[in-house]
Amino acid sequence: MKPIQIAPSILAADFSILGDQVHAAEAAGADQIHVDVMDGHFVPNISIGVPIVRSLRPVTRLPLDVHLMIEQPERYLEVFATAGADALTIHVEATRHVHRAIQQIKSLGLRAGVALNPGTPLKAVDEILHDVDLFLVMSVNPGFGGQSYIPSSTGKIARLRNLLTQAGLETDIVVDGGIDANTISEIVSAGATVAVAGSSIFNDRDSIAANLMRLRSALPNFTKEK
Ligand code: DX5
Ligand code: ZN
Repeated sequence: MKPIQIAPSILAADFSILGDQVHAAEAAGADQIHVDVMDGHFVPNISIGVPIVRSLRPVTRLPLDVHLMIEQPERYLEVFATAGADALTIHVEATRHVHRAIQQIKSLGLRAGVALNPGTPLKAVDEILHDVDLFLVMSVNPGFGGQSYIPSSTGKIARLRNLLTQAGLETDIVVDGGIDANTISEIVSAGATVAVAGSSIFNDRDSIAANLMRLRSALPNFTKEK
């Protein structure tokens, strides 16, 4: 089994000191940085875009996983690649040509991710299981940080892991939304390999390092060395 990776979502960070917050997350052992891009159409919120990816690229050695919550993401794949993204995750609901978009991402030399909203059945990705580098299971409805984990996500993650195993694949399953010390162990037990966490890492209650450690110590098989 792959070791679980933790991906802090900068949506919850303090944007006035974003570089420092990303540094702190890297120093505390984060595995990748999750960047949430929202267009006010696919989701009812607007967040950040290409300039933030470009400014973060020289700040960290960690992979930048860009989660595109935008309509027709194929229009922007190239600019995000040029800005320094390592992985581009598009929503299966946001394009009529998900297969073509995946090929485009790969031809740019990036990891291709496909995300599913909570209401989207797994059969939506049946035909592309072999083409995708990572699946992102939304465990809240996309658009906002700080929401509660939707409990039925756990069964969906387990069913996806099962489908992948049956197909002979070890594709990453990224889980995004409502991940904290109470929910992280059940997503990992169900087969997630990457946990995205925003408000449980960037908050006023504790430091980024202490919050990351709280998440790691809640993992099944946690040992102090890691
Ligand atoms: C929600 C975003 C998430 C968000 C998660 O639409 O895709 O990445 O930052 O935030 P938390 O961890 O606070 O639920
Ligand atoms: Zn996200």
